[in-house]
Amino acid sequence: MGFQNDLVGTVRGRKQAELGTPVWLVTGGAGFIGSHFVKLVLRERPEITVLNLDALTYAGNLENLAEIEGHPRYRFVHANICDASAVNGVFEECAISAIVNFAAESHVDRSILDPEEFLRTDILGTHVLLEAARRQQTNRFLQVSTDEVYGHVAHGASREDDPIAPRSPYAASKAGGDLQVLAHGTTYGTSVMITRGSNTYGPNQYPEKLIPLFVTNLIDDEPVPVYGDGLQIRDWLHVEDHARGILHVLEHGELMNVYNIGGGNARTNMEITKRLLDLCGRSKGTHIRHVLDRPGHDRRYALDASKAHSLGWRPRRDFEQGLEETAAWYREHESWWRPIKSGGCADYYRTQYAERGAR
Ligand code: NAD
Ligand code: TYD
Repeated sequence: MGFQNDLVGTVRGRKQAELGTPVWLVTGGAGFIGSHFVKLVLRERPEITVLNLDALTYAGNLENLAEIEGHPRYRFVHANICDASAVNGVFEECAISAIVNFAAESHVDRSILDPEEFLRTDILGTHVLLEAARRQQTNRFLQVSTDEVYGHVAHGASREDDPIAPRSPYAASKAGGDLQVLAHGTTYGTSVMITRGSNTYGPNQYPEKLIPLFVTNLIDDEPVPVYGDGLQIRDWLHVEDHARGILHVLEHGELMNVYNIGGGNARTNMEITKRLLDLCGRSKGTHIRHVLDRPGHDRRYALDASKAHSLGWRPRRDFEQGLEETAAWYREHESWWRPIKSGGCADYYRTQYAERGAR
């Protein structure tokens, strides 16, 4: 069952001999989840060559891929998904059997400060890739999306056929991408599918998101900025489980379908914060700073992932252990995050958190 043969079977193009094996185009593969996905595919799918197309924005980091540099089945292309001629150039060079689109502006707080780049990459960029997939009749186009498109969920858990109701510029840009993907499939017959993942954590996450920001602050004996009362709920998913979920849907999912990839680990932000304080040996009294809440902050996300479960995917990583290992990874990889935190991230942090102040 599934489409694996279809995915690896069709390779055309001039450079086929050079690349040797079926080619998957992964966009945004230098980012957090994309880099784990690229490494997973190279490790576990020996017949696949991966082309990683990434613009290397502030969030893209080739260090995430240092261990596969020079890998015979891996190529890096430095380009922007909004640049149609660059994208088409890649398709002219070799036949792509699958596209997995991770490339996005991905941080809600940045989208509130300045949404334009989100609209460009998450909507226009997705359109450029869809058009390339249509022209080349690519076998699979998988759009990596998010539970945030469903908006705040007061009760129960979002199912794939629930209406989308995005409430932040980030979520709205991702929802715009999702709608285009499905419309492209309906109108042109492009072979599309979508995954919607929940909040993801693990090694290599840019230290602007909750878990890596808090861990690295705590390592440095700095307080952590909790938005509002900290009772917002997120459903946490380990990055390796997320990458595996996307691969599973790519190979076994049905076209024109959406699959929720949920971690099944619902926690309030305060629960996460207290656990991170323990793991880093800091105290609640001195290291928590409640700051002004995020405007339009979604109170709760919750995913019903039973459709992906029935396809044969389930998260494997225990959350408490995964969180402990993640904190340890940041302690052991200061050389990865210190240049980021003292570089571009420092300016962003000052702007973002000066506005919020202490409550
Ligand atoms: P990230 O911000 O860590 O990485 C994004 C990557 O995309 C970077 O390498 C960046 O350089 C690249 N990129 C950005 N704009 C680009 C452009 N115009 N052209 C080419 N490359 C570009 O993001 P992430 O957390 O790894 O998220 C990856 C995908 O997963 C995103 O689509 C995001 O919406 C989705 N997602 C993320 C989470 C999460 O918790 N992080 C959860 C669910 C879904
Ligand atoms: P984040 O990691 O930004 O992911 P998302 O907004 O996509 O869910 O935030 C996770 C939760 O943590 C969210 O409820 C906002 C909250 N948060 C804070 O309380 N303080 C912070 O400094 C950050 C970055 C997030």
